[in-house]
Amino acid sequence: MPRKILVTSALPYANGAIHLGHLVEYIQTDIWVRFQKMSGNECWYVCADDTHGTPIMLRAEKEGISPEQLIERVHGEHARDFAGFGVGFDNYHTTHSPETQACANDIYLKLKAAGLIEVRTIEQYFDPVKQMFLPDRFIKGECPKCHAKDQYGDNCEVCGAAYAPTDLIEPYSAVSGAKPELRHSDHYFFKLSDARCESFLRRYTARDNGVLQPEAANKMQEWLGEPGENRLTDWDISRDAPYFGFEIPDAPGKYFYVWLDAPIGYMGSFRNLCERLGLDFAEWFTPGSQTELYHFIGKDILYFHALFWPAELEHAGYRTPTKIFAHGFLTVDGAKMSKSRGTFITAQSYLYTGLNPEWLRYYYAAKLSATMEDIDLSLEDFVARVNSDLVGKYVNIASRSAGFIAKRFNGLLAPADADLPAIRAIQEAAPRIAELYEAREFGKAVREIMALNDAANQYVDSVKPWELAKQAGRDAELHAACSNALNLFRLLTVLLKPILPVVAGKVEQFMNLAPLAWRDAGSLLAAGHAINAYEHLMTRVDPKLIDKLVEANKESLAPVPAAPSPQRHAEHQQNVAAAETTGAALCTIDDFMKVDLRIARIANAEHVEGADKLVRLTLDIGDGRPRNVFAGIKAAYDPALLVGRLTVMVANLAPRKMKFGLSEGMVLAASDGDGRVPGLYLLAPDSGAQPGMRVK
Ligand code: 2FM
Ligand code: ZN
Repeated sequence: MPRKILVTSALPYANGAIHLGHLVEYIQTDIWVRFQKMSGNECWYVCADDTHGTPIMLRAEKEGISPEQLIERVHGEHARDFAGFGVGFDNYHTTHSPETQACANDIYLKLKAAGLIEVRTIEQYFDPVKQMFLPDRFIKGECPKCHAKDQYGDNCEVCGAAYAPTDLIEPYSAVSGAKPELRHSDHYFFKLSDARCESFLRRYTARDNGVLQPEAANKMQEWLGEPGENRLTDWDISRDAPYFGFEIPDAPGKYFYVWLDAPIGYMGSFRNLCERLGLDFAEWFTPGSQTELYHFIGKDILYFHALFWPAELEHAGYRTPTKIFAHGFLTVDGAKMSKSRGTFITAQSYLYTGLNPEWLRYYYAAKLSATMEDIDLSLEDFVARVNSDLVGKYVNIASRSAGFIAKRFNGLLAPADADLPAIRAIQEAAPRIAELYEAREFGKAVREIMALNDAANQYVDSVKPWELAKQAGRDAELHAACSNALNLFRLLTVLLKPILPVVAGKVEQFMNLAPLAWRDAGSLLAAGHAINAYEHLMTRVDPKLIDKLVEANKESLAPVPAAPSPQRHAEHQQNVAAAETTGAALCTIDDFMKVDLRIARIANAEHVEGADKLVRLTLDIGDGRPRNVFAGIKAAYDPALLVGRLTVMVANLAPRKMKFGLSEGMVLAASDGDGRVPGLYLLAPDSGAQPGMRVK
């Protein structure tokens, strides 16, 4: 019987870019999900943007847009980045959705009916200028321990001390700079200290219950303390207006705290998928459900997933998670990711630099285990490992054998030798490797697969197809050798497919195979199977690309971006053009055609905080992938009046990392090079032009 499995990854906040640290989790989860699907299980992988809370509300305000506009834009960016790395969600939703709201209200009302919600008056810092209560991270002041200035309200980054915001000396609001006032407010609490929650959580998180990894179970039992100690404190689940989130039913002006509706977002995303596909939501979320529910998370959010979330589900009458899988953090070259060193690497910059996403998937897989240990991305090791394992060992098997089958044998395979030790070794190892995938021991699986790869290469080295090909009368041997090699390659592709879905797809195409499933590791290709022409599968990593990537992610400390602003590009181009009309240099039609000019619709335009000249434009060129462009046109245009206009953009300009983000092109504007005529004039097409049309 196929298992029914629902899998989630943590929901990323809707106010920041996806970076390589995030990707550890999404790649880990995606590999596991692909393995389950390949094994014939019904498996659904859902996620969403985590869209609520004060930071998102304030970020939108800073950008001069509504929170709805911000989360919509970021949703597009996140979906694009995940797709770029082959993360195959069945649904990528948003917590700002009717499904999540309905689930949040339902859970809240059931907890309330069970007597697990309590209203209490608390004292909190209030910003009299912004007229809002301040979360701890938005209050700053002097550390009460070491007296370092400008420390956050919850802990000191200098001495590491943890404290309450009221302990800060000379506190001030990080939003307005005003001196905060202590004010009273009614807050809603989930009574985690209730005896029902405590006894449930003691059972649920126990080591022998198997929901948590051993080290996580130990940590939870530590947090729970000895029976009767009652260490759990109630959880404040409300925030006061103004807040971007869902208003609590029957509590006007009170909103669910972002962490209340975030995990409920898993349910909301799945509910949305159920509605679209006609799946039975109740079957998956009723207590005693035969389906399995797994949450992949970072070790920093265990408390929310192992205590609050199961306690909510249990007492609201839902099933609880089958297992919670926590992973460690990513370090780059042995240190925390750093913007100044260029190791805080965004997903988008990786893709734009031209690095193959499957290189990273493979490298992470090779490093991942079922523990909560941190993993290190050593950039030198990354290059060496990908080049030696994937290109030198794996792809090498096909590239050394496929050509002969096409050229000498009409693309038809000879029967494979089922007793060949290298073939038998793979077929015997497949169930063991399946167990390693199931147990999230990807590093061990990769080591085994590479050992099998070595054996396959030793076989090819021993039969030397390239020598057989030169000798008369050895056609049958050559045919057998290359057919065995391609069968070995197919089997290894089955084993690597959860990690390398794109390469596996290319192999399926060139070897003329139906999508490979795990059970295919048990079979060989029939004699006479026809393959297609060999398709290039993967290039080596050029170390220069890594240097480029690090450079692109280096955040300059200089106030002005090192790269010329888009306006300076435009001026430069105009100067070049002027020189050309005087005959100084000519541009051939081929040169001109290298510039991909497109009609673009300005889908959004906004001020850039801290930039004197720039406007951030979101340009639509009709391909469903909005481009972010910083244009130096602030002096001439009010962003609000640009939205909806058509203009002309350079769509193939190399992206540039600027202080404020990545600029993915340039808009064209006219200005007087000598400065005699003031102003700057954005180009616009005649009416009838459509976004995406080529300009030439
Ligand atoms: O820590 C974070 O990035 C949160 N946005 C994770 C939420 S996971 C789940 F609970 F939604
Ligand atoms: Zn301190």
